[in-house]
Amino acid sequence: MFYLTAPAGIPISLHEVAEAARQDGCTHSGAEFSRLVGDMVGARYSFDFGSGRAALCSILRSLAMLSKNDRDQVVIPAYTCFSVASAVVRAGLKIRLSDIDPVTLDYAPEATVRMAQPQILAIVVCSLFGLPSRWDSLRSTAAKTGIYLIDDAAQSFGIESDGVFSGTHGDVGFYSFGRGKNLTTYSGGVAVTNRPDIANRIGAVQAQLAYPSRRSQLSTLGRLVAYSAMLRPEVYWLPSSLPFLGIGETVFDPGFCQSRLGDIEGRLGRLLLDRVDVLNSVRSSTARLFIDGLSSMESLQALGSAGETTLPYLRLPVLLKDRKVRDRVLISLRKAGIGASAMYPSTMADIPGIESYLASDERDFPGATAVADRLITLPTHPYVSRSDVYRTVAILREVIGSGS
Ligand SMILES: Cc1ncc(COP(=O)(O)O)c(C=O)c1O
Repeated sequence: MFYLTAPAGIPISLHEVAEAARQDGCTHSGAEFSRLVGDMVGARYSFDFGSGRAALCSILRSLAMLSKNDRDQVVIPAYTCFSVASAVVRAGLKIRLSDIDPVTLDYAPEATVRMAQPQILAIVVCSLFGLPSRWDSLRSTAAKTGIYLIDDAAQSFGIESDGVFSGTHGDVGFYSFGRGKNLTTYSGGVAVTNRPDIANRIGAVQAQLAYPSRRSQLSTLGRLVAYSAMLRPEVYWLPSSLPFLGIGETVFDPGFCQSRLGDIEGRLGRLLLDRVDVLNSVRSSTARLFIDGLSSMESLQALGSAGETTLPYLRLPVLLKDRKVRDRVLISLRKAGIGASAMYPSTMADIPGIESYLASDERDFPGATAVADRLITLPTHPYVSRSDVYRTVAILREVIGSGS
């Protein structure tokens, strides 16, 4: 009853929060942090923002300015974080939803072919939980019609595939440093690109944004103290049982605040940046334990788990048989102190109030619907112990059985 693992997060000590709060003479710590991020991932240009969605919105505004014709549609997956849709709307563009493959969580191959259209400005590629995307086929679709590719690496910071870091696969990319991400500064985002034309525009858009006020920095400091103190399973059960805190909620809100990255977040990012490899390797090891434990169960599927190496999943995505089983499993795991989550509550097409922002009438996305109904994600962060993993596997066996 008094134990619950958080679905995601990273340990941050109070000492580190105090360090981040201390002025160190660096005038713009956010810009300095984004420079370090750019160096780490091999991007020539990098820009700090107050969140991943502010980074995406600025990228989209920049691409719309660069585009020679009036392209006003942005392809996004029919199942992804609702903030992606919020950023498209905030940039004044239309959302074009595209279905995903429920096993790879990447765009469905048949949907990719249909993206080559003259109204489309950009395709946003979200490598959910750290699962890789099929960049080759997207590149050939994009090249045919001059569409920009945006690498949304909000959930895959520090992960390499095809010899390059996530975030740098497309024409431009971005990271989120929000609470549940690979590395967190509580909130934050960085945009990266190697293209000078795109960088020039993003620089101009970013220059119009304000820095967070002193008051909002104080509130960030308070939230960081709470985050640092409450992520342990022995404490996390308390805030997570208070519904008015809205922990873990995902909302579609095009009116979000747009700003640069604050100094406190920038200093914290600088302090923690070197740790991302260790954090990601802990995630791989925990995911491996889960995958080994679940491997004999035919009635579920751990996504992206084929092969020898284990991805540093931000959370381990597992597909169950149907929504009923999924909901039963989530309740049982929570009772046992495991903060598994169903991730996003619906497909993008089913978000209340989104219709007027959609570029087409298409509402039927079977791949995205299957994921919205059947997905659970298991926590892989450093506060998850071996005994949490074994308990999770035992509960899954008990609730759904080991056979098909
Ligand atoms: C795939 C994806 N894209 C974009 C975002 C937006 O990032 P932020 O929450 O920092 O605005 C998130 C995170 O919430 C995300 O998971």
